[in-house]
Amino acid sequence: GAPVEVNISKVEPGQLIRVEWRGKPVWVVRRTEEILDGLAKHDNQLRDPASVEEQQPAYAQNAVRSINPEFFIAVGLCTHLGCSPTYLPDTFGEQVEGVASGFFCPCHGSKFDMAGRVFQGVPAPLNLVVPPHQYIDDGNVIIG
Ligand code: FES
Repeated sequence: GAPVEVNISKVEPGQLIRVEWRGKPVWVVRRTEEILDGLAKHDNQLRDPASVEEQQPAYAQNAVRSINPEFFIAVGLCTHLGCSPTYLPDTFGEQVEGVASGFFCPCHGSKFDMAGRVFQGVPAPLNLVVPPHQYIDDGNVIIG
């Protein structure tokens, strides 16, 4: 499939937009300072907090899993059996106490933080996949 160009300049803080790439949903989430600060606070509950598993580009092998910390770009499919997790910007604390926002897979209950990092004790084995991508400028990114 062809690469997809996405204009991210109008994504609001906290908002998630969906685009399609190679028949898969790809998410672009604009993270606030508060969300980024929160990412540092639950490493001990994650399976692979530093994202060392080899299922993503090298530039995503860091705690925020992105090139530009403000934007999280991931394939929106659960790494268990491929359901699409639900973005819970406000109510994720009902799933993981003390973690304000994240992604919850309705199929078998896997939970991911705002960097797509999987929590321990759920069926999904890996963090959400970061697709290959590059920035053309601050407001435009090419997926693929
Ligand atoms: Fe997401 Fe099973 S497909 S938990």
